[in-house]
Amino acid sequence: MQRDDGWADDTWLVAGGRPHAAGEPLNEPIVAASNFEHGDADEEPGRIYSRGDGTAGWASLEAVVGGLEGAECISFASGMAAIAAVFAGVPSGGHVVIPADCYQATEGVAAAGEADGRWTITRVDTDDTDGWLAAVGAADLIWVESPSNPLMLVADLHRIAAESRGPGTVLAVDNTFATALNQRPLDLGADVSVQSATKFIGGHSDLLAGVVTTRRPELADALRRQRLLHGATPGALETFLATRGVRTMALRLERGQASARTIAERLADHPAVTRVRYPGLPDDPGHALAAAQMSGFGSVLSFELADAEAARAACRRIRLIRHATSLGGVESTMEQRAALDGQEDVPPGLIRLSVGIESVDDLWLDLDQAISQPH
Ligand SMILES: Cc1ncc(COP(=O)(O)O)c(C=O)c1O
Repeated sequence: MQRDDGWADDTWLVAGGRPHAAGEPLNEPIVAASNFEHGDADEEPGRIYSRGDGTAGWASLEAVVGGLEGAECISFASGMAAIAAVFAGVPSGGHVVIPADCYQATEGVAAAGEADGRWTITRVDTDDTDGWLAAVGAADLIWVESPSNPLMLVADLHRIAAESRGPGTVLAVDNTFATALNQRPLDLGADVSVQSATKFIGGHSDLLAGVVTTRRPELADALRRQRLLHGATPGALETFLATRGVRTMALRLERGQASARTIAERLADHPAVTRVRYPGLPDDPGHALAAAQMSGFGSVLSFELADAEAARAACRRIRLIRHATSLGGVESTMEQRAALDGQEDVPPGLIRLSVGIESVDDLWLDLDQAISQPH
């Protein structure tokens, strides 16, 4: 859906997708409905059943998130439900290209499909542009994640999208880390963009949801059909909370990414830190690309300590920053990624940090004391 309001993105996030009739609440309330009144049997019914027809609550979330990118938005029960719906569109016997370092549950979906004989896989390092260009021609689904989780590698989305691909090939970008405020995969030539709305859209670590945006009507229809048939529908409370969360996404992200930059700079000068991975740092290998295709560098970064024990000790010592797996919330969170299943290839001392909206000085004091003590 194209917007004609002429507003800036932060204005749209506040004003989009609201009911406008007199006497209506400003926010679409929680719509707890599966079943709808048919009404006059001689007239076309409106909504019949929410698994297929959605609710006004879904419509509000989809209008504001889709409107940001001038696209249709299809909301799902989680980021993984959205991702699985995109993978479900791969034809039987097809070929999928994924990042070698992609989010572990996405890797799990791809690997399970291969094990079942549904498709074959090529894996390419996120920052290996030549590898992507060589792989694109044979693919039915090209899945890119940039910046990647948790190595913070940057893919050249523009060049990957520009490489000629078959008419049925879908180029999908997991835009969860960047958000649609910082990066527009559809403008760069992708067919679909996916975000775990659990992260920055919701922003408060209190919901699971996922969104897909696309400007290709046939893909939007296919994704809605996937949702209808597989039933991975978003919940009434979750869509309400996600819509409320997205209203403040621009403010939260602005604050979080300013603090992330400060923390990344301080970490880079810290004697206990062997490497900082943040595309916002000028000497990061992905900086030039990120600067060309992103309007902000996001509020997630990774840094490496000497070894696994140093990383575990830092996670034990933090007092303000929460030791937790998810990201994109108002509260800062961090964890040692190699401790998780499926993350054995991640450097053992790597900590992924999601910077929230607390005072940056309080965050730094906490982090500094956690990484400075001998373990
Ligand atoms: C990059 C990325 N994509 C997708 C997901 C999956 O989202 P969800 O947990 O909402 O299913 C995550 C979750 O951490 C993620 O980090």
